[in-house]
Amino acid sequence: MTLGQSCTSSKMMSVFSGSIFCPLASILIYGIISFKIDIRKGKIMDIYENLKSIEEKLRRVAERSRGIIPYSTVDGRFDDTSKGGICWWTNGFFGGMMWQMYHFTGEKLYRELAEEIEEKLDENFMIPSGMDHDSGFKWLPTAVAHYKTDGNGRSFDRGLIAAENLAGRFNPNGSFIRAWNDSGDGSRAGTAIIDCMMNLPLLYWATEVTNDPRFSQIATRHADMAMEHFIRENGSAIHIGIFNPETGEFLRSDGGQGYATGSSWTRGQAWALYGFTLSALYTGEKKYLETAKRVADNFIFRMGERTGMGIPVDFDQPDDCMREDSSAAAIAACGLLELGRYDEKYHDAAIELLEFLTENRLSLDEDNDYLLWNCADSFWSNRSQMTLIYADYFLIEALLKLVGKDFPVFRPTEGIQ
Ligand code: GLY
Repeated sequence: MTLGQSCTSSKMMSVFSGSIFCPLASILIYGIISFKIDIRKGKIMDIYENLKSIEEKLRRVAERSRGIIPYSTVDGRFDDTSKGGICWWTNGFFGGMMWQMYHFTGEKLYRELAEEIEEKLDENFMIPSGMDHDSGFKWLPTAVAHYKTDGNGRSFDRGLIAAENLAGRFNPNGSFIRAWNDSGDGSRAGTAIIDCMMNLPLLYWATEVTNDPRFSQIATRHADMAMEHFIRENGSAIHIGIFNPETGEFLRSDGGQGYATGSSWTRGQAWALYGFTLSALYTGEKKYLETAKRVADNFIFRMGERTGMGIPVDFDQPDDCMREDSSAAAIAACGLLELGRYDEKYHDAAIELLEFLTENRLSLDEDNDYLLWNCADSFWSNRSQMTLIYADYFLIEALLKLVGKDFPVFRPTEGIQ
């Protein structure tokens, strides 16, 4: 089977074409399958209703959020990183939500806000210490989304400048894209992080629009490195990898935002799950698909340990620790929905996550600016039960995917290989 083919249809074909089945058995099987499809249709209708309610709320939120770039909320209202924090890694997501809503509704208001944020981010290009591995998070949902919408030339330039900078962080000896910056002492020259898998689509996009293979060559070399050093035997992912930046030798893993070194920070698992899936979709390489499935299988297995509860901040946090991260659930749902093209079990796991989020962690109260609550920036942060703008972004992306209306920002525009 090639990437992009649905397993569901081929499985159903083999059930019905087999002559060993008696008519009664066929009727029973047909009944079970139709029942399952009906349940799914019902769920998708509920989700569509959720999306409409989210859009109604976001219209009010957008009206009162002109000129700001939110990261989180204080007393239910957005903060603003456009003041003093223009380089923050999450600054693309609210603009991205505005593009999501623009494509869902055609409302001009959303587009205006998205374009304002895209222009504000230009300041970041002139602050080298604020240009890092997260350029994909900043400029895919803003400039590249704009370019994909109407071919805007300035947006194209912004996307390309961001991609050139990201490619420039590649260390050829260790085959990794360097994470973060330092004060010039080289202390972070050997760092790479799992999150960066989600920035690779900016490089795949740059190759698509320039026909210059360097960008995707760097992306695949980083993905190969991450497959080797970041994914453990059991399919879980480390957060930080430390290399000797001169020789490229892999030295060790570090814990980062998770509970401990060696633990499984759930947002990191979600970045790996969705990130490898995206590399598979862009390149058609089976090895990335297999890696994404291994990460997803482990994620689903760990989900099973906490049925009926939210996703913890770290799968290995102490049993009596109730801290959750709804952002990890939303990001994982996006990856699982894409993997659902190949196996229904991934789609079903995504539905389970989204049902939990929409029924238990979604605020439709128009007085609050946020959608999802119970997020965590990191396990050891003193801000527990936070709201995070990217949790909302990926929730909307997942819901739009489910109803077949997501605008391609992180995933390829077309031509799944
Ligand atoms: N990329 C940083 C984080 O996931 O918190």
